[in-house]
Amino acid sequence: MSLNGRQTLTRYLIEERRRFPQASGELNGLILDISLAFKSLARIVSRGPLTDVEMPEAGAVNVQGEVQKPLDVLSNEIFVRMNEWSGHLGGMASEEMDEPCQIPPSYPRGKYLLVFDPLDGSSNIDVNVAVGSIFSILRAPPEVVKTGRDVVEADFLQPGAAQVAAGYAIYGPTTQFVLTVGNGVAVFTLDHDLGEFVLTRQNVQVPEDTQEFAINSSNSRFWEPPVKRYVDECLAGRTGPRGKDFNMRWIASMVAEAHRILMRGGVFMYPRDTKDPARSGRLRLLYEANPLGFVMEQAGGRASTGRQPVLGVKPSELHQRIGLVFGSKNEVERIERYHHEPVAMSVAPAPLFATRSLFRD
Ligand code: F6P
Ligand code: MN
Repeated sequence: MSLNGRQTLTRYLIEERRRFPQASGELNGLILDISLAFKSLARIVSRGPLTDVEMPEAGAVNVQGEVQKPLDVLSNEIFVRMNEWSGHLGGMASEEMDEPCQIPPSYPRGKYLLVFDPLDGSSNIDVNVAVGSIFSILRAPPEVVKTGRDVVEADFLQPGAAQVAAGYAIYGPTTQFVLTVGNGVAVFTLDHDLGEFVLTRQNVQVPEDTQEFAINSSNSRFWEPPVKRYVDECLAGRTGPRGKDFNMRWIASMVAEAHRILMRGGVFMYPRDTKDPARSGRLRLLYEANPLGFVMEQAGGRASTGRQPVLGVKPSELHQRIGLVFGSKNEVERIERYHHEPVAMSVAPAPLFATRSLFRD
């Protein structure tokens, strides 16, 4: 058993910290606790029906209106238990908890906030397809740090640009931990024999161009005109305005889509649509869009609401939903551009002025 010259996550974090002599090591401690939650979940997910862990009852309907599966409930519990004791956190928030989660009085409170989606894509569990966990680390407001008071929703309503670190774990054929602390993106692969995450990719770069897109096209009748235009142009392929053929993928596990895009480029869209006018998108800003947006931007990709960079959005609610487009920079910029061009041009082109000729590059 050997590392073959590779670094463990612990070593990577310690060496990164050396660049900041004033850093206390708390962020590293927090990231390592998160990695322990990932290891624990990787084991449970990989054993599937052979699990030797007692499963909780299926949960109620969560604040999102989704039925919580036993594994959603368990993964949330694992995240909370692995992180509440350390003294690094002022509070937590999760997709699976309606309200912010307080650090129990028996433990010290710290200077960071942890926001997470403990099991993303959990509808894929029953069919043995990759799922993941997503996290975002924010600074607790100074007043929280000073007084140690309970956290409230407003403490978490910080734009994605304020994230200190973010990332995800993907539980696929291998378990990988993708991390950014604002200095590029690193990928660690879980070595089950060592029980350690081992650095396997550094300075990951998302290719700027792509011929692959991901969108749930069963929603196409609800799409806004700029999205419809973009997809139509991709589908038109080599003889259309883009002059090249596109391929399409949809896993319905955002972490898995994000990982594919991080590794080989592509564009992911879950745009705002008219399906449910009460919702301004499907995915959640604080624990889905922002952390993945941070990872994408740190890898040279781009993340957008379709209209503006996602990391610049000032959240208004803990469980706020938002339109999300991320991936290869040039494609995301094109989609943003389409959103800013006059709608009339892209809705119903007169027969004489086919979309193709109007919008040729
Ligand atoms: O958490 C939301 C999520 O499961 C994402 O992982 C995924 O991209 C999306 O929902 C799938 O949505 P749909 O079921 O509409 O394809
Ligand atoms: Mn999710």
